[in-house]
Amino acid sequence: DIDPKGRKILVRVDYNVPLSEGKVTDDTRIRASIPTLDYLRERGARLILCSHLGRPKGQVIPELSLRPVAERLAEIVEVPVGFADDCIGSLAQESANALKDGELLLLENTRFYPEEKANDRDFAAKLASLAEIFVNDAFGSAHRAHASTVGVAEVLPAVAGFLMEKELAYLGAALTNPSRPFVAILGGAKISDKIGVVERLLSMADRLLIGGGMANTFLAAKGLELGDSLVEDDALDTARSILENAGPTMLLPTDVVVGKEFDAATEHRTVSVNEIPTEWRAMDIGPATVEAFADALKGAALIVWNGPMGVFEFPVFAEGTTSIARAVAATDATSIIGGGDSAAAVRKAGLVDQISHVSTGGGASLEFLEGKTLPGVAALLDK
Ligand code: 3PG
Repeated sequence: DIDPKGRKILVRVDYNVPLSEGKVTDDTRIRASIPTLDYLRERGARLILCSHLGRPKGQVIPELSLRPVAERLAEIVEVPVGFADDCIGSLAQESANALKDGELLLLENTRFYPEEKANDRDFAAKLASLAEIFVNDAFGSAHRAHASTVGVAEVLPAVAGFLMEKELAYLGAALTNPSRPFVAILGGAKISDKIGVVERLLSMADRLLIGGGMANTFLAAKGLELGDSLVEDDALDTARSILENAGPTMLLPTDVVVGKEFDAATEHRTVSVNEIPTEWRAMDIGPATVEAFADALKGAALIVWNGPMGVFEFPVFAEGTTSIARAVAATDATSIIGGGDSAAAVRKAGLVDQISHVSTGGGASLEFLEGKTLPGVAALLDK
């Protein structure tokens, strides 16, 4: 939709990637941006990339510099990637002006300025002044109405990149015209963050399988004793009314792996949900639940999954999440994994190639599934 030749293009990417000792430990999000970058570079655009990294709260935090990301990007694209120590001001301006056709520059973390999250007009205007066109490829940040996602789109002609397009195509098709049977899986710690998405999926899906910490609150709402498990007392009434309306569509765990402490090395055992010992806590779904969930997935035409089935960062409590990942991968369904922890679990299990689409957005995919408008998308031009 744009003619990029010789133009300075500001590309908002989501390079909010994990770092350890100054190195990128998971470059999935960087790789996911390559089709857009290649397309623009091959057509002679001058690329000025911007992103946030972590939550520096408007301060310069050296550990949250994007410099290591520029280094990783340069290794992937096999051409030099310039880096500007500031995302606005004379340094950024000079670096952007020095770009030649096809060259790349990454700007420093936009969240080093409090104006980024405040979607401050002046800050957005300064960022926008670096370029002539805005391409938003940061699906993972599309639920944030920040200066680098929404503010600049109000100043420059703004279009979607290919990652943004692909994410919206997969998630959008799933929600507007789901193939059936449609089975949704939700997990993660809390239901309070996911009430909207539970309600929406219940109204659309043929089955909704619930695991992880959020299942505890539903089980407690049914009157079960959960020991020391994480239960959101404030959400019990909501959980009760959701259960009343859900009927047989919703499937909850029947057994869980409980641990004595919240610890990777804690004593653990599998028990029925009716027999959770006092002072023990549910940390994973048990084998009977895995079997029931895997059965519900068989024959599905569409599967959407968001949130792990347990504390999967502790290996002894990862079995439920990994088994569900295997069960999803084994179906012929179109399978869509919301980003964040469930995407990490699928990657860890080496199953990414057997999934139709693993989203790069955690919070963004959840808000999209909930039916909310993503401000970063709404700010783009209509075709
Ligand atoms: C993410 O990792 O989900 C996005 O990059 C958004 O990050 P945020 O939750 O800090 O806004």
